[in-house]
Amino acid sequence: MAVKKAILPVAGLGTRFLPASKAIPKEMVTVVDRPAIEYVVKEAVAAGIEQIILVTHSSKASIENYFDRNFELETTLESKKKFDLLKEITEILPAHVSIVSVRQPQPLGLGHAVLCAKDVVGDEDFAVLLPDVLVKDSDVTNDLSLMIQRFNETQASQIMVEAVPDHLVDQYGIVDVSSSPNEGQSIVMQGIVEKPAIGTAPSNLSVVGRYILPAKIMQLLEQTPKGAGNEIQLTDAIAKLQEKEIVEAYRMKGQTFDCGSKIGYLKAVLHYGIEHPKLGSDFKKLIQELAL
Ligand code: G1P
Repeated sequence: MAVKKAILPVAGLGTRFLPASKAIPKEMVTVVDRPAIEYVVKEAVAAGIEQIILVTHSSKASIENYFDRNFELETTLESKKKFDLLKEITEILPAHVSIVSVRQPQPLGLGHAVLCAKDVVGDEDFAVLLPDVLVKDSDVTNDLSLMIQRFNETQASQIMVEAVPDHLVDQYGIVDVSSSPNEGQSIVMQGIVEKPAIGTAPSNLSVVGRYILPAKIMQLLEQTPKGAGNEIQLTDAIAKLQEKEIVEAYRMKGQTFDCGSKIGYLKAVLHYGIEHPKLGSDFKKLIQELAL
């Protein structure tokens, strides 16, 4: 069965992004001219995803509102003949894509967040995209599409990874592989560990936050005890899966921006800003002026 569903865990309170995230969800913070979450949803849709499952929190209704129609706004834009804007706001989500939300009632970790979507996922294999990280394509075919292709061919779960400096390994899931794959390639994983202490990591290949997983991982998540940070970790369930069957690390080709951190966010604004079809050239000039 093709991978058509994607879980986006958005229940986190975004403490790394305070004060901006005090009264709006961190996922709604604007990167150039649209909220960060839109880039992640577009990435999933470009890879063929047709149902976005938000695992969310009571304070985050603006995310659902953003992807919903807004009749009052649409009518106003229409009566003012602002058709370009009308087109833009009605085309945020293609008609064949639906958004479903479930709540994560308690902050028990990423593994728990994914498990909250169990009933919506049912018996289908699925993608997970962590919305703090924006993945910018280096190619027409995005990395997530390549992971789904590989999953369809091999039935091996795919975990997107990128190399990080050795002193940062304790901030990420880290995979154990016999050799480092080339960009765009998958390699069988020997293990995976969540936030290893510096000096103990099996490699410097970090889990980016894009996964293609089989429906059965939900059963493993149900049995996963609390791990690193006293939270139920998705990484620990993947480690259990990898003891039973082949799981592969996919080394990405694109570039990541960690919008959960302030400096990562600023970097994203610069990179997406200079490539913006309407604002890009003026924005580039502005950066050049400031750099003098
Ligand atoms: C989560 C995952 C971790 C991954 C990271 C990527 O950690 O548990 O394996 O490397 O996202 O951003 P978190 O950043 O939520 O602590």
